[in-house]
Amino acid sequence: MTNATVLHSLHPLGQLEKFRKDPLLFLEEQASKHEERVQFRFANRTVHLLLTPALIKEVLVTQSKSFQKSNQFKELSLLIGEGLVTSEPPVHTKQRKIIQPYFTPRHIKKYVSEMIDSATEMMESWEVDHPRDISKDMMGVTLAVITKTMFDMNVNEGHEKIGVHMERVLETATKRIRSFLKPPISWPMPELKQYKASIQELKRVVEEIIQHRESRAEEKEDLLHALLHSRDEDGNCMSREQLIDEVMTIFVAGHETTANLLSWFFYMLQGNEKVKENVYKEVDRVVGKNELSSSHLPALLYTRQALEETLRLHPPVWMFGRMTVRDVEIGGHLIKKGENVLISPYIMHRSKKYFRDPFLFEPERFNRVSAEGNHPYTYLPFGGGSRVCIGNHFALQEALIIAALYVQRFNFKMSGDGKVECHPLITLRPKGGIFMEVEKR
Ligand code: HEM
Repeated sequence: MTNATVLHSLHPLGQLEKFRKDPLLFLEEQASKHEERVQFRFANRTVHLLLTPALIKEVLVTQSKSFQKSNQFKELSLLIGEGLVTSEPPVHTKQRKIIQPYFTPRHIKKYVSEMIDSATEMMESWEVDHPRDISKDMMGVTLAVITKTMFDMNVNEGHEKIGVHMERVLETATKRIRSFLKPPISWPMPELKQYKASIQELKRVVEEIIQHRESRAEEKEDLLHALLHSRDEDGNCMSREQLIDEVMTIFVAGHETTANLLSWFFYMLQGNEKVKENVYKEVDRVVGKNELSSSHLPALLYTRQALEETLRLHPPVWMFGRMTVRDVEIGGHLIKKGENVLISPYIMHRSKKYFRDPFLFEPERFNRVSAEGNHPYTYLPFGGGSRVCIGNHFALQEALIIAALYVQRFNFKMSGDGKVECHPLITLRPKGGIFMEVEKR
């Protein structure tokens, strides 16, 4: 460990090249060499990587008003515009107020049966005579769940195409976020053309969701209803643009992340036979051959802990950032206006300062009521403060349901050598998918 907190570099890109080559390794190296914070340059941007829960809390809570979302998310504006992930106050405050009631722990209980029905329908359609890519399957199921629960629409067909477009957008957006000189989006390069075409295709799906609702006589009182009918103090409804941005945000943020959680969950079970056995035993004891229902969920405690433990080792949002809007001092360090701070759940969750035997996959470590409550700002798969993930309870409930339904129906084992690398795009995806041999139980 050294006390030096500044990494000097004569390279014009600073540490960007190293980071681009292997972002997780770069972060791990910094965390192993520095105690609290380390400052470096990504080309012309000054970046501070925060390594203690106290500093992270300052940014997300105590001094959150001095920060705004950083470029990482701004590139995504092409897709999600000024939706809840990317907007800043006062738009963000107003929109969060409209959307929040649909994600309270009490409200999400209402989604249980729709989650079960959508996921069951999809799983029953799977053929298991050759290895299946579980990450594709999980994208399909979570997409079906989010569109049904939030927008009362079925997109069971066409989900594979949506997956291809999503992956393409994330790949190119990530590349652009990590470039110093990125070509303007209007340039006629094949990759940019594909990028724009995929964004257009996803926007078309969202338009279809909205139009489908507008053409219906009777309405379900779901999130889409609230977005369509909300009025501001002057009685004005949301602009069409804002509506599309919010629907797109929920559509994208609401399935990709949970799908990655589930993919890593099954991957981790495969490598940890005892945990896998415990999960199967718990699902068999609690649910057995019965139809899964809301009354079973509280008893699936170990399975929930295994999901939380997966979020620790493979947090889908492995890094996020903020930019200062004024000079600010955190923990005695000056961060100048316009500089960036990086927070990495991946690094915090794997730190031996905060977790005993951090590389062990040990669900029992969450043997209590709330994982986040026990490790404030060291365990932060959903972020924290006023920008904490709005879908955190929704995601855990959904993941528990899908995990239980899957375990109830299938046995699985890895095909091939069983090794899958992390692909740290904006979310932490499994590189090349996760192929499993699956059989019906
Ligand atoms: C395992 C699944 C999920 C993970 C790990 C996750 C993680 C996160 C994280 C870390 C943030 C904060 C980013 C920041 O502070 O810059 C966030 C924000 C957000 N998430 Fe999630 N998320 C998940 C599922 C969901 C779901 C299911 C939804 C919607 C149904 C959702 C919607 C959002 C939205 C709208 C925001 C922005 C909130 C705001 O700024 O007010 N997420 N998520």
